[in-house]
Amino acid sequence: MINIAKKITAIVMMLVGLSSVPTVSAHEGATGVVKQRMGAMSDMADAMKAMALVVKGKQGFDSVLFTENGGIIVGHSDMIPSLFTQGLEQDMSEASPAIWQQWDDFVSISIRTKTDAEDLVQMAQEGGELRPLTKQFVKLSGGCKACHKAYRKKK
Ligand code: HEC
Repeated sequence: MINIAKKITAIVMMLVGLSSVPTVSAHEGATGVVKQRMGAMSDMADAMKAMALVVKGKQGFDSVLFTENGGIIVGHSDMIPSLFTQGLEQDMSEASPAIWQQWDDFVSISIRTKTDAEDLVQMAQEGGELRPLTKQFVKLSGGCKACHKAYRKKK
């Protein structure tokens, strides 16, 4: 479990890092699809944080938490490609131009994220226990991480 614990700590750090952006000012001026995708991404971060509390043992286990928050990620990751319409980059956007150069790869990471979230929801619905759910949660977070590493440029 030590390894899993380390991984979870790393995920939580990633999530905290993501939200340390002062959200309101970071979004000021963002419009249209850019604003929409920032909102969708923030919702996914909130969903991951809610599940992280449980996998870290800071909140009691309740499978509904995984079905609900996993469901948010299923819905939003499904929309990711449609929220990155080419040519609409705005100043405050952290989207890398590489997205449009490697579009198929970008889409495939979105799909992978969605599939991993679907599996998580299904496991929770089928009465999965915390340990396998935790493993799946770690797997799911790999999609967020992989995409940000390749396609989100640091400002
Ligand atoms: C397929 C690629 C991809 C996946 C998968 C992905 N992201 Fe993102 N994410 C991005 C990109 C690109 C940006 C920068 C968008 C921009 O600034 O225009 C971003 C931005 C964000 C932001 C900052 C939003 C803001 O307020 O500006 C958060 C938070 C975030 N992602 C969380 C997540 C979480 C949590 C997951 C996994 C459940 C995830 N993302 C999955 C590509 C992805």
